[in-house]
Amino acid sequence: MRSIEVCFTPDLIRQHSLKEKTVVVVDIFRATSCIVTGLAHGVKAIKPIAEIEETLLHGPKGYVMAGERGGVVVEGFDIGNSPFEYQQDYLASRKVAISTTNGSQAVLKSQGASEILVGAFLNLEALAMYLVESKRDILIHCAGWKGTPNLEDSLFAGALIDEVAESLTISGDSALIAHQLFISAHENLLATALKSSHAERLKNFGTEQDLVFCMEESKYAIVPKLIEGELVIPT
Ligand code: MLT
Repeated sequence: MRSIEVCFTPDLIRQHSLKEKTVVVVDIFRATSCIVTGLAHGVKAIKPIAEIEETLLHGPKGYVMAGERGGVVVEGFDIGNSPFEYQQDYLASRKVAISTTNGSQAVLKSQGASEILVGAFLNLEALAMYLVESKRDILIHCAGWKGTPNLEDSLFAGALIDEVAESLTISGDSALIAHQLFISAHENLLATALKSSHAERLKNFGTEQDLVFCMEESKYAIVPKLIEGELVIPT
């Protein structure tokens, strides 16, 4: 049987082999929730970028510049990192260049995998169905916060494992921890996620509605995939 494992933070990714694997990158609050929302609302492609300076070079090339540092929109960017900003009509058919504290970095640090996908509660069911049908072992790569694990990404890892547990072998204690965490919290998922340190941080910026939105389950039936450096809905 194929396996599913979890990496709780990009700082631990070197402990995992990416070769021949499908990696699912997760940053529930809020980067991967924004990516799923944007693509579901018609954004053509989203290019993850590590550095602010490089992102700013993409504006003149026609990209919408998006992202944050420490949860706050970067000066000179067109939009920040709220899933509601990604629903604006003018973004439809546009390309977005995104640079965030953790999420865009985790996508880039997944390079070397056979396939890189993006996961969020917003596309949980579609993603689980895709993974059950796919052929490779799976690694859930949580973006965490500046090298440390976080609660909301770990909850999502557990939720995804729970969805696919009948078809895949749970591999390693990180995956077991995530799954047990989800089992113990699933009846109060939103309330549990809102206790996380990043939720507390974001509440200082008045983003409560973002947090509630990011915890909505299976709102969008899409599975974003990294193709030639850009996240798209494969045709
Ligand atoms: C990140 O990439 O670290 C986050 O998405 C931060 C945020 O909530 O804006």
